[in-house]
Amino acid sequence: KHLSLIGVPTDIGASCLGASMGPQALRVAGLRQALERMGFSVSDCGDLNGPPNPQTPAANGYRHLAEVVAWNQLVHDAVYRELSAQRLPVVLGGDHSIGVGSISAVARHCHEAGRRLRVLWLDAHADFNTAALTPSGNLHGMPVACLVGAGPEALLNLGGPVPALRAEEISHIGVRSVDPGEKQLVHDAGIEVFDMRYIDEVGMKAAMQAALRDVREGVHLHVSFDVDFLDPDIAPGVATTVRGGPSYREAQLCMEMVADTGCLASLDIVELNPALDVRNGTAQLAVDLVESLFGKSTLMRRR
Ligand code: ARG
Ligand code: MN
Ligand code: MN
Ligand code: MN
Repeated sequence: KHLSLIGVPTDIGASCLGASMGPQALRVAGLRQALERMGFSVSDCGDLNGPPNPQTPAANGYRHLAEVVAWNQLVHDAVYRELSAQRLPVVLGGDHSIGVGSISAVARHCHEAGRRLRVLWLDAHADFNTAALTPSGNLHGMPVACLVGAGPEALLNLGGPVPALRAEEISHIGVRSVDPGEKQLVHDAGIEVFDMRYIDEVGMKAAMQAALRDVREGVHLHVSFDVDFLDPDIAPGVATTVRGGPSYREAQLCMEMVADTGCLASLDIVELNPALDVRNGTAQLAVDLVESLFGKSTLMRRR
């Protein structure tokens, strides 16, 4: 299998600057070499080149909508191109607003190939805000709503089916911070959420078994990995930390169980903010977890 790294150096949808340095921090942490050591052929497509961050306040409920659309169109086109060439895209964010471009391209590819799609959204947040509800106007808080059809016209029409996803195609894992109005929307949309309370009660193993129950051969599995999914004690290098996330062991198990399906076909790594990190440790942790996601294991495991 051939992997393609796509750098998306922007913080256009975030509250604070710095996620734009995420792609380079992941390169410095040796992402490409780690995947090559595992036997993958990897090409680094370099960085997409979108508009700068104007750091302006929200207009009509959105900050930087035009720039977010421009970045997402670039991401959509790049991810679609790599999938069409039978390569597995690994999107290096960048803030989580770019999940719209990435996952809409995946949905388009699956639609054309007649493949069933499942998306796992690993995140402390639901990212299901709308212009009317957002406390911030930041579009990194809205990508899931956009993907299921609740968002600004220009972000819903990047290419491929509209809406990109049906609610049944996406599950949230690790959620522990949802804004008041957002709760109702997530509930009304009927999205399956394995929040931290659920993981506390049944454990990561049972939560992942439930999330992956219908993922079998032929399914395209996309993982959108917001680094703030992880507990801030192990992953300080993100702007929107929320305490009480998965530990190192829980995160490893989560990734290993994804790998065991053999269905991982595209990935986003987002919200890493090197300006807030300590000696690039969060980037190194992300690389460590991505190795597990692609099947690195200690022993030859019998299943
Ligand atoms: N719910 C908050 C907002 O909408 C925070 C969103 C954080 N999202 C993220 N991708 N880190 O502003
Ligand atoms: Mn394919
Ligand atoms: Mn997110
Ligand atoms: Mn988040």
